[in-house]
Amino acid sequence: MEAIEVKDMSKSFNGIKAVDCVSFSVHRGEIFGFLGPNGAGKTTTVRMLTGVIKPDAGEARVMGCDIVKDTQKAKEVLGVVPETANAYPDLTAWQNMMLIASLYGIPRREGEIRTASLLREFGIYERRLSKVKGFSKGMKQRLIFCMALVSNPEVLFLDEPTSGLDVQSARMIRQMIKELKEERKTVFLTSHNMQEVGELCTRVGIINKGKMVTIDSPENLRTKIGGSLAIEVRFDKAVDKSMLDFNPERVGDSYRIYTTEPHEVICSIVELAMLNGLKIKNLNVHSPSLEDVFVKLTGGSNEQ
Ligand SMILES: Nc1ncnc2c1ncn2[C@@H]1O[C@H](COP(=O)(O)OP(=O)(O)O)[C@@H](O)[C@H]1O
Ligand SMILES: [Mg+2]
Repeated sequence: MEAIEVKDMSKSFNGIKAVDCVSFSVHRGEIFGFLGPNGAGKTTTVRMLTGVIKPDAGEARVMGCDIVKDTQKAKEVLGVVPETANAYPDLTAWQNMMLIASLYGIPRREGEIRTASLLREFGIYERRLSKVKGFSKGMKQRLIFCMALVSNPEVLFLDEPTSGLDVQSARMIRQMIKELKEERKTVFLTSHNMQEVGELCTRVGIINKGKMVTIDSPENLRTKIGGSLAIEVRFDKAVDKSMLDFNPERVGDSYRIYTTEPHEVICSIVELAMLNGLKIKNLNVHSPSLEDVFVKLTGGSNEQ
């Protein structure tokens, strides 16, 4: 059984397709990255998969439970860190945790043990008796994370969990995501942070304008864009693009060439420089980043 199975799922708002016939599955124990620009349909997908809103069409299962026909059962096996935080500001961290525990029907004593251990792990135990309204954004987000984990869910949905956080909180949350993987939990992580997704995820789905563009491992995605290496060169003078073979891309005052044959390309660059009296000011060879892939596949920037 897959942890998450989605088939032809769609959702429109006012006639505009926010999610357009999306299908994918997430294996058990996997950290699946769901990457897309602002407005791509990530949050709408998460909200459908966590039973907050109903899809217009298609089906989805979480740990085998149909999210439309069996919403309650599906909710019992999943945890969610939503895009906008939902802890009660007038309750303490402890009270918020115990409230969630009681909603899940967890016996009081067990709830207390889990609450104490989670708050400790996330470094907010000392502040357990303070009202949430006095918490910093990072502390609030760590509490939301604890709240999502109190029921010990099999599948965790994280909607941009580190977005706008201080470095320390973001690092702590990334560390926790890695630990969840060791516990064989399944994580569905939406993000617009390529580096985060590249570091944490085994597979990445890229969504753009409601449509799934591609699903693959970060490594395969990097090689997908026409070569395993990117070579960047800058000369001391402007060069007519037609002088260079390999159809380079202009990046600032450098040229970028994607290739699987770095030797040939570098030799040609040197030859070109010698023949035309050019000086090479800079020459870099690197693996294309996930960001390169993203821009190539979505045909746009990843500006938020
Ligand atoms: N409740 C809603 N009412 C109307 N439009 C919505 C609603 N929720 C999302 N949308 C629209 O659906 C599209 C996808 O939004 P969303 O899923 O939030 O994207 P993302 O999380 O990838 O940034 C956007 O065009 C957004 O404006
Ligand atoms: Mg969103």
